[in-house]
Amino acid sequence: MSQFEVGNISATAVLTAKMRALESDCEGSLFSDQYAALLVEHSGLNLRSLNLEQVTGQRLFESNVVRTHFLDNALLKATANGVHQVVILGSGLDTRAARLDLPTDCIVFEIDQLSVISYKKQILAEHDVYIDVDWRPRGGDLEGEWLRELTTAGFDPQVPTAWIIEGVLFYFSDETVAQLIQTVTDHSAAGSELLVVHFGAGALIEAQSREMASAAENAGYGFKSTVADPVQWLDGYGWDTEAETFSSAAERLGRTIPYDIEEGPGREIAWLIRGVKR
Ligand SMILES: C[S@@+](CC[C@H](N)C(=O)[O-])C[C@H]1O[C@@H](n2cnc3c(N)ncnc32)[C@H](O)[C@@H]1O
Repeated sequence: MSQFEVGNISATAVLTAKMRALESDCEGSLFSDQYAALLVEHSGLNLRSLNLEQVTGQRLFESNVVRTHFLDNALLKATANGVHQVVILGSGLDTRAARLDLPTDCIVFEIDQLSVISYKKQILAEHDVYIDVDWRPRGGDLEGEWLRELTTAGFDPQVPTAWIIEGVLFYFSDETVAQLIQTVTDHSAAGSELLVVHFGAGALIEAQSREMASAAENAGYGFKSTVADPVQWLDGYGWDTEAETFSSAAERLGRTIPYDIEEGPGREIAWLIRGVKR
């Protein structure tokens, strides 16, 4: 049995994996994460009673499905277009390196807290999960020396990179987010892709988001930043950017994400963002 302390933030990684496991099992699922259930099962967090019926149509589940679908497809496209260096920041219990059909010469770096990375490596190894790409997960602090870990692992800033930042930016202050994006930008060759999900300004006024923010605050890890205009935001760093709201993407996919306010310009709740480095 794996020793894995479920701490505040790590528990969110487990919960996110549970959402992927439930979607993977449903009819007409938008993706398949065949390792999510395994990683949830051994995590020490008992989510066995949470079922598909309970989460269908719920905000957290539908949002996770939409963002996973977006990032999986965007990553597959980027790698098909020749970007074969991938960096996933705050990768949690995601297993894109194993579950997506990436070109075998891809190098996939991951950074998360060491406890999360160690747990994931251990469980996948114990269950003989074969990873076709060159997978290099490393423990590192995204508010600290993560770049050193990445560099030591062999990251090459001279070649185009596909970066994924999913479900993590809102834990950080605007200042930390700015530092993180600046570091990513400074280490991205032209043609790199930045695939990000982030909350919008509407999240600050919408009741459920505010409730989530205060729960996060009480748990000690905060809800500290949002982005009002993702295109302008990343363009300022040198990325040609396109963005779509979660709700718009959900509608295209035949899903609905329930919100308590009507979104509108400047009141968007969550964004799917793709930037290409100029
Ligand atoms: C909500 S989970 C999302 C995980 C993954 N991206 C996914 O969507 O399944 C947030 C992740 O961010 C990681 N994280 C938060 N703050 C971090 C930090 N300062 N350094 C490294 N990882 C961090 C947590 O350990 C956790 O795995």
